[in-house]
Amino acid sequence: MMYETILSPIHYGGMQLKNRIIFAPTTFGLSDEEYLAKIRAIAQGGCAMIIVGDVPVGKSRFEKSLFDAKGFAFYQQVVKIAHDADCKVCAQLHQSDSNLLAMFKYIPGLLLKKITPDQLREKLNAEVAPYITNMSQRKIHEIISGFGKAAALAKQAGFDMVQVHGDRMCGSFSSAIFNHRTDEYGGSAENRARFAVEAVSAVHAAVPGMPIDYKLAVRQENPHFGNAGVVEEELPVFVPLLEQAGVTSFHVTLANHSALENTIPPADHPYFSQPGCFLKFCDEVRQYTDLPICGVGGLNDPDLVEQQLASGRIQCAAMSRQLLADPDWVNKLKNGQAEQIHRCLRCNKKCLGGLMAHQGTRCVYDALREKEAKNA
Ligand SMILES: Cc1cc2nc3c(=O)[nH]c(=O)nc-3n(C[C@H](O)[C@H](O)[C@H](O)COP(=O)(O)O)c2cc1C
Repeated sequence: MMYETILSPIHYGGMQLKNRIIFAPTTFGLSDEEYLAKIRAIAQGGCAMIIVGDVPVGKSRFEKSLFDAKGFAFYQQVVKIAHDADCKVCAQLHQSDSNLLAMFKYIPGLLLKKITPDQLREKLNAEVAPYITNMSQRKIHEIISGFGKAAALAKQAGFDMVQVHGDRMCGSFSSAIFNHRTDEYGGSAENRARFAVEAVSAVHAAVPGMPIDYKLAVRQENPHFGNAGVVEEELPVFVPLLEQAGVTSFHVTLANHSALENTIPPADHPYFSQPGCFLKFCDEVRQYTDLPICGVGGLNDPDLVEQQLASGRIQCAAMSRQLLADPDWVNKLKNGQAEQIHRCLRCNKKCLGGLMAHQGTRCVYDALREKEAKNA
């Protein structure tokens, strides 16, 4: 198989991508040095664009922020590493929906190991509805304007694109499960879309002409998966509004706020075990827009990815875990070495598992790859 669609360029939201493979937003929890080395390997491995995960839309104590000099300089370094490898870079702009004040009261319990990180997640999820529902309009407007400011800073730092993270706070406002407001930000689907739509509008106004990707987190009932994000039935309301606000492409996946194992499903997941498990959500989104759509979720088999792109079902394929397992996925296809790809096992042991254990995002193939690099 020639993989000609995978390797063909595409006009993606007003920007040219050299092929169809995008590194999905991924949090690493590594030292700067290790993180930059990973980004370098992924960029040099041939993918067309890297989406840098979790870039906050304000100052942050926990994440690298564009709003302080050190964070800004760090992102400039990331951009340069990608550009040197002829790889585009996109900043995933996000606002956490964890109520930090609520979180502080759990820290002693966590430190004393009286509650586990999983229990903490559960407790924080329980705080989301009151946090979203009771947020003042002043705070809402402040966060929305933060999206615009962050986009302007991202452009200044050299990013080629921004992605508005449609999970997290945008997703919580979107969801009737969390959003019980009675003002114009709650109630009808159109009102629940308002926060996300205004965030996109703020980005569009701040960086006119810059492509805007939207990570559209879709949740489903029957069986129930995902609590934040847009329920399938409301896509016809959300998708056109987001497009009108300035979105130029959609990155479609399952919504979060249940367990991370659902949005990052392992191969033995009871429901989303199949490669391409979230592509059905792309089909639904396709009914309401002609914009390019990027699929994600267990897309690691070159033949499957080629088929999905060639049929026009998706325009780009994003992968996180596969490029952690083998950053050279694209180069190996180019060089006719598809059979030498280290196939992601979707075991989640050292990527999600590593991140959760505070050991950083790694991969069970790391040792093997290091050995290969030494022998090369
Ligand atoms: C370790 C790890 C960290 C992730 N961090 C983020 C993140 O910061 N933002 C985000 O939107 N998605 C994040 N994701 C989800 C991925 O972008 C992707 O949607 C998911 O892993 C499914 O794709 P895959 O099967 O190619 O890994 C992360 C995934 C992993 C494995």
